[in-house]
Amino acid sequence: MTIATVILAAGLGKRMKSKRAKVLHAIAGRPMILYSVETARRLPSDKILVVVAHQAEAVKQVLERQPTQIIHQGRPLGTGHAVLQTQSALANFPGPVLILNADVPLITVETIQSMLKTHQDRGDELTLLTATFSNPKGYGRVIRNPDGDLISIVEEADATPAQRALREVNTGFYVANAPFLFSALKELTSDNSQQEYYLTDIVQIAVRQGLKSGAVQAPDSEEVTGINTQADLARIERAVRRRIAERHLSEGVTLLDPPSAWIDADVTIGRDTLIYPNVHLEGASRIGEDCVIHSHTRINNCRLGTAVTVMDSCVLTESVLEEGATVGPFAHLRAGTVLHKGAKIGNFVEVKKTEMGEGSKANHLTYLGDAAIGKEVNIGAGTITCNYDGVNKHQTIIEDHVFVGSDTQLIAPVRVGRGAVIGAGSTITRDVPPDSLAVGRARQEIKKGWARRRKKAKGKDKEEIVKSRKE
Ligand code: UD1
Ligand code: CA
Repeated sequence: MTIATVILAAGLGKRMKSKRAKVLHAIAGRPMILYSVETARRLPSDKILVVVAHQAEAVKQVLERQPTQIIHQGRPLGTGHAVLQTQSALANFPGPVLILNADVPLITVETIQSMLKTHQDRGDELTLLTATFSNPKGYGRVIRNPDGDLISIVEEADATPAQRALREVNTGFYVANAPFLFSALKELTSDNSQQEYYLTDIVQIAVRQGLKSGAVQAPDSEEVTGINTQADLARIERAVRRRIAERHLSEGVTLLDPPSAWIDADVTIGRDTLIYPNVHLEGASRIGEDCVIHSHTRINNCRLGTAVTVMDSCVLTESVLEEGATVGPFAHLRAGTVLHKGAKIGNFVEVKKTEMGEGSKANHLTYLGDAAIGKEVNIGAGTITCNYDGVNKHQTIIEDHVFVGSDTQLIAPVRVGRGAVIGAGSTITRDVPPDSLAVGRARQEIKKGWARRRKKAKGKDKEEIVKSRKE
């Protein structure tokens, strides 16, 4: 059976009290809307239609590489009005239409499949997914007759106190046959407390027309929890994070404290990697096998090879760390950093757009920006690449086997040739030829006996002062 899937994503989400459209808020680093799209992609969806209105351009951008068709709602006048906009896109579509609310991201494919199966087996025109909530606040209530047949859905804002006491809710997932769906949608009115065209009114329309409709109960309440407020979002975020941590544990990753491992949805981690408490792995980071990542470290969109060690309190962004590289503690790797095999970046070192060759080291207190550093180079403590002249950025090139003494400033553009040595405390302004020594600092002067003479002179001063006071 093929279906058409319609994802409702046009609302602003007033109850979020945010400037950003609700479906653009991230859950585990991934925009909310992508959760529904992924569910749709894992079902036999012949077409995936996403209805947008608020911040449509931004939503479209998020969906750029997804196999979705965008449907504009113009003004979002309600969920029923939203589905009606898909009519021409679905003209002549023979199969059933699945409708998803984009603000219910945790729904599982299995639950929807059981809904589709029931719909088909029973030959109904309309099938709903309902759930029983201990606290049904904010949801539409499912009204049934004494025999248990569906009668209607009543939104909380329109419900009587007796209806509000009902705990069976509408979860926002529907399967409907296209001809029935679009004929029912044309009958909707906005004659309700919110003056919206409610999709939920198609239930009573089916009943009135004597068409068969039914409901499937969701197996657990978490997967059908909708996000209407920031508090809902925080709760769902936690649930998603828990699922992600469980997945990594099941794939052989060691998380010393799963609840504090903050791992985004698209991150991959190799087995036998050890993650200490309070580590953030963000974006599309790829972490290899046998890595060790210590506490209070944030890794955003990086690629780590096998057996990379990141010590405590590091920030790594858009960088590549090859096998056996070591970073930190307290290091900052900014975008464009590449550490080749076994390279080492130590304490209080900042690196930007710089390549460190195999086995090269910058162990302490250093800034490396716009540099290309060869193999087995030693960068002494306190080295600074002066890459910015106030107007432009310039490159520093350090070839293989160079030794840069501590407290060196390399004024870019500058090249240090293979095997050269730079004396500590140098300011290097000109290229250094291979295998040579460069020293660029004031020559040391020695004045013998100077310190002793000064001490004596001071002593004299004191005696004189004491004497003058006595007099
Ligand atoms: C809706 C249901 C309610 C159900 C709940 C489940 C209606 C009238 N009510 O209520 O019965 O219990 O979901 O979570 O359907 N949207 C549009 N266009 C619009 C309005 C909304 O695309 O004009 C989208 C929103 O972006 C959102 C979804 O539809 O993704 C649901 O809208 P929302 O306003 O959150 O509906 P609820 O009040 O939660
Ligand atoms: Ca909602």
